[in-house]
Amino acid sequence: ERGRCGVTNSSAPASMYMDLSGPPVYRSTTTAPVNIAVVKYWGKRDPKLNLATNPSLSVTLSQDDLRTLTTASCSAKFPKEDSLTLNGEPSDISGARTQACLRELRALRAKLEEADSSLPKLSELPLRIVTENNFPTAAGLASSAAGFAALVRAIADLYRLPNNPTELSVIARQGSGSACRSLFGGYVAWRDGTQEDGLDSKAVEVAPASHWPEMRALILVASAAKKGVSSTSGMQQTVATSGLFKQRVAEVVPKHMATIEEAIAKKDFASFAEVTMRDSNSFHATCADTYPPIFYMNDTSRAAVRAVEQINEKAGKTIAAYTFDAGPNAVIYFLEESAAAIVGTFYKVLSATEGWKDEAKSLSSEIELEETIA
Ligand code: ADP
Ligand code: DP6
Ligand code: CO
Repeated sequence: ERGRCGVTNSSAPASMYMDLSGPPVYRSTTTAPVNIAVVKYWGKRDPKLNLATNPSLSVTLSQDDLRTLTTASCSAKFPKEDSLTLNGEPSDISGARTQACLRELRALRAKLEEADSSLPKLSELPLRIVTENNFPTAAGLASSAAGFAALVRAIADLYRLPNNPTELSVIARQGSGSACRSLFGGYVAWRDGTQEDGLDSKAVEVAPASHWPEMRALILVASAAKKGVSSTSGMQQTVATSGLFKQRVAEVVPKHMATIEEAIAKKDFASFAEVTMRDSNSFHATCADTYPPIFYMNDTSRAAVRAVEQINEKAGKTIAAYTFDAGPNAVIYFLEESAAAIVGTFYKVLSATEGWKDEAKSLSSEIELEETIA
């Protein structure tokens, strides 16, 4: 998958329909994009409220490529229990984190209903949520980010709540930490805040996508399989057992946040890229330092690291940056001007690498496209 970065979510207006008999069905559909962190969130200071041990920063990808599509509906004719269907399968909705999102959204709707008695009492109706990711779920491509951002926005639209992405980010954060950043396009920071109640732990836009429109992301899928250790559980194990993690939080992340925000402001790709790669390495080092160790990257991932090094060496400057989330799949950031060089080299290197051969095949059509443009 290859694409532009940073278009914000779009929503269809909430709708209502009635069949010839029975109560109405209220419904709203929305999409939310994936965001891939360049300074990673890894560690909770409060697992219940999903508050982070450190701030993080990400780039939101265009939802023309990777996205979650979610429809939320409510009706008195639905079964009494709320339900969630994920990628066509019934999914557990009883988890504390999903419940926290539903509870907060319902409370906001109930306030509107209290203030205006002419409003239908949607807060009292069972919810039906149907959601679908057009990319691998739980494979280290931020499905929980797009998933919870879409869930919160779809219900907020259904309930006609004010559309304030920062406020919605506080709710989405409770579903999955990384989800707070998917409510914005472009370059987004999650400021972890200091309050115990988490009300200041929210996402803010550092720069819109239009600030640096040449930014591109190449997503290389080494494996679409569900990861062995979920992000939630992996980071808890790291916090509990890794000494290196303490240094990451105290020294590495603050430096990376400051440098990358400056790099984004100045559109300094080499600096942006160095922090991105160093932060990914630092995060995976804390995973290896977890006891017992967690390995998200594999030999195939490491071949992509080497390919980026080759690309940068050949160019004589840093024109590509790799980053890996909690999974083996690579995300490569680069600028449009370097597209031909990067896609071409990846094609050559990956065709010769066992785990990447299928990805190389799908890149070949894009190389033709690049050559046509050139
Ligand atoms: P990832 O790297 O894909 O974010 P995580 O381990 O963080 O993996 O989270 C995966 C979990 O996120 C899934 O098991 C599921 O519970 C939840 N999730 C993924 N997609 C959606 C979605 N569209 N709607 C609601 N929840 C989702
Ligand atoms: C490596 O947001 O998926 O992708 O809050 O427990 O749902 P929970 O974790 P999640 O963790 C994301 C970890 C990461 C880095 C990042 O996105 O910042
Ligand atoms: Co996740």
